[in-house]
Amino acid sequence: MAVRSREPLRAGRTDALRLIDGLGDGLPNVIIEDFAGHWLLSTAEDREPPPWMLRWLEGRGMPCYHKRLALRRKDSSPEWLCGERVNGAFQILEHGVAFEVSFSSGYSQGIFLDQRDNRAEVRARSAAGARVLNTFAYTGAFSVCAALGGAETTTLDLSQPYLDWARRNMSLNGIDTEAHHFCRGDAFHWLRRFARQGRSFDGIILDPPTFSRDDKGRVFRVERDFGGLAELAAGVLAPGGWMLCCTNLRKMTSAAFERQLLEKTGGRFRASRRPMPGDFTDQPYLKSVWLDG
Ligand SMILES: C[S@@+](CC[C@H](N)C(=O)[O-])C[C@H]1O[C@@H](n2cnc3c(N)ncnc32)[C@H](O)[C@@H]1O
Repeated sequence: MAVRSREPLRAGRTDALRLIDGLGDGLPNVIIEDFAGHWLLSTAEDREPPPWMLRWLEGRGMPCYHKRLALRRKDSSPEWLCGERVNGAFQILEHGVAFEVSFSSGYSQGIFLDQRDNRAEVRARSAAGARVLNTFAYTGAFSVCAALGGAETTTLDLSQPYLDWARRNMSLNGIDTEAHHFCRGDAFHWLRRFARQGRSFDGIILDPPTFSRDDKGRVFRVERDFGGLAELAAGVLAPGGWMLCCTNLRKMTSAAFERQLLEKTGGRFRASRRPMPGDFTDQPYLKSVWLDG
């Protein structure tokens, strides 16, 4: 039933979806995501998949892997459960945009499906010639969408392997990576550097992890520091530009998040919030606030 209700979301060449979202579909602690016919079952760290579910998955015949949602095992890749084994990376489609996904590159698979609607909006907002900065970019999915909209993108992340992955995602979609910029390093450092250089952007994406350290070892915590990050980013935003601010910190409400952003950016922006995509039926943990100048 839950799986069938998601079918309309596949319209427009999308083959990656959350099929079952825990309590939202009456199955607490069970998440199933479909990545182009490769299924990923996630359960709480200490929970085995229920036997009836294993039988059901085996009966579907898809390659199926198991991930334990864990705080302590951040480097482990999902484990094979049933069906054919998946060797190496493969492609998914989202509104016709291709992304590389992997079940063997650690805890995350290369794309966060909960950002699907925000990616579509980034693409719609990225007019030809606009300059879009994607900080904490991971595999560059927002950059790909901005570039397809026509923007000149700057993709920024601490990790070189993720920047390489972002380039591959661009190439998969026929985007010339030479026409775009890639910066490796700390986002806080680069935002200050862009300000000193007098560089500015028409759109900025801020989607940091809930906890991070900058290049001097200083700790960043969303609940305390996101406003400061938005303030730094606002310093390199062109007049009339936009910022997308996201966090999945569960203990903070959307209202508190929005308040923090507006207080720190000194009344320069109008804020609007977005709900999570329709296949995320459990608690709406992802907060997305667009700030328009
Ligand atoms: C939650 S992921 C971002 C997801 C991404 N926005 C998306 O939707 O695809 C966090 C990313 O931030 C990067 N990161 C963590 N701390 C950072 C920092 N201080 N500066 C730049 N990147 C950082 C990590 O390497 C990781 O790729």
